[in-house]
Amino acid sequence: MREIVMTHEEIIEACKRIAGELEKKFKNSDSIPVFVCVLKGATNFFMDLIQQVSMPIITDYMQVNSYNGTSSTGVIHLKKDITENITGKDLVIVEDVVDTGLTLNYIKQYIQIKYNPRSITIVTLIDKKPLRKIDFHVDLCGVVLNENKFLCGYGFDYHELLRNVPYVYVPDKKEITELDKILSKDSKVIVKK
Ligand code: IMP
Ligand code: MG
Repeated sequence: MREIVMTHEEIIEACKRIAGELEKKFKNSDSIPVFVCVLKGATNFFMDLIQQVSMPIITDYMQVNSYNGTSSTGVIHLKKDITENITGKDLVIVEDVVDTGLTLNYIKQYIQIKYNPRSITIVTLIDKKPLRKIDFHVDLCGVVLNENKFLCGYGFDYHELLRNVPYVYVPDKKEITELDKILSKDSKVIVKK
């Protein structure tokens, strides 16, 4: 049996709670908050979260790269930038997981320096708090995970696989071996010219 970290029902409950907190926070604001999804991992969470928000919001997307297989590299590359005008706006950055904290710390500093928003609220589905390499604060999270577990499903991937599973779980060695086989076959596909 799979070791499930968050069922789909638990995820939706967390989305409702977080959406409620965000609505409270921005209810008297004079500008529309901008929700930014960190691609690709946060897409599932982002979509479920914004559907629980009943006030007007603007959405945007950015993408960075920091992970290689099952571990964080610590080296961050910006692959896609924000496209909305966010200067002076309230920003909500939505991430799948904060692990070492390096990715979101990079994103937060980059956004602050380049766009100078009025505020930045950090939201993550899962907070791997004990794994921080730097002091990085999460404002709202679905669940805190106190053990070092490699997660898959619901946006979390193993070499781009398993993002489509509707819940978060820990793959076992057998499943990883199976996936490695599938991946090695896939890379041997000969592209016809
Ligand atoms: P950090 O920079 O170490 O905080 O890593 C955050 C990024 O690494 C997230 O945006 C995730 O995409 C990825 N990541 C962290 N932990 C996991 C995991 O358990 N499974 C899949 N991806 C992960
Ligand atoms: Mg991510």
